[in-house]
Amino acid sequence: MKSITFSNGDQMPIIGLGTWKSKPGEVYQAVLWAIEAGYRHIDCAAIYDNEKEVGNALTKAFKDGLVKREELFVTSKLWNSNHRLDDVVPALKKTLSDLKLDYLDLYLIHWPVSFKKGIGFAQTREEFFTYGDVPLVQTWEGMEEAKNRGLVKHIGVSNFNIAKLQEILKSGRIAPEMNQVEMHPFLPQNKLVNFCKTNSILMTAYSPLGSGDRAAASKKSNEPSLLENETVKEVATKHGVSSAQILISYSVHRNIAVIPKSINQDRISQNLAAIEINLDDEDMNKLLNIGTAYRFIDGSFFTGAQSPYKLADLWETENS
Ligand code: A2P
Repeated sequence: MKSITFSNGDQMPIIGLGTWKSKPGEVYQAVLWAIEAGYRHIDCAAIYDNEKEVGNALTKAFKDGLVKREELFVTSKLWNSNHRLDDVVPALKKTLSDLKLDYLDLYLIHWPVSFKKGIGFAQTREEFFTYGDVPLVQTWEGMEEAKNRGLVKHIGVSNFNIAKLQEILKSGRIAPEMNQVEMHPFLPQNKLVNFCKTNSILMTAYSPLGSGDRAAASKKSNEPSLLENETVKEVATKHGVSSAQILISYSVHRNIAVIPKSINQDRISQNLAAIEINLDDEDMNKLLNIGTAYRFIDGSFFTGAQSPYKLADLWETENS
């Protein structure tokens, strides 16, 4: 399996299994199918509310000898309600306990947005912390402590724009090693990709297929479809593969890790098999200049009327 490499030489398999939106009753089997198919990278998060089931599947896979812990790359993410310095390591320990692991390969700050302790999704003004209350560098200090204590091998962030990465790069003792963001042909993130490359920050693409299984309430009525896009379909036909496989291969060709979510055995296998596809320059140019710009996960669920955060706190420009 092709990998991307951290500065200390550790490798992260470039295709991982996404688990956002996989329900507790579904994710156990999905993780086992994925490991059987050859996945060695699983992407998790505390807020996905399924880490216990993922942990049960990992325990079963280790017990049955399908894979050894050191052969598997496991990522998880710190939720917004645990951003205070003293809350980071305890939140990580809860995730480790749910996953039934004694270390993570990668731990990320999930969003650059802070809630008070115990709040799942803040709505009212008093449920939020501001950057004044909990500066991002304070949360980063907690992440550094997690790494220094050997609880995680690598630390990084998710949904961070250039300005926020610069803030951490300027004040942190350890530089972020990963930035996981939404990325696909409708949102190539060229500026952010260049910035991360220049600063030795690896990247992971989430929602590579457009996350069509999101709750209806979070979808706009006129959303474009990645899987049905004519250019994607044309490249897929040329290679005799599916649109989903082209979208996964697009990230692989940019040296960016990619975490398609599936709970279906055939699609889990199919998504990993995208590693075999050789896109040429013409294919990549078509995909990189697709002519549609769209962000599916726009962050507006964090920027309601009572929130101290604005969309401008998250993204540089709407579709940059
Ligand atoms: P399912 O879990 O039933 O396979 P994303 O990774 O962008 O969040 O997208 C996840 C969505 O894409 C889910 O609805 C998932 O459905 C679907 N999906 C995953 N793999 C494929 C595939 N190979 N072809 C079509 N749809 C897929």
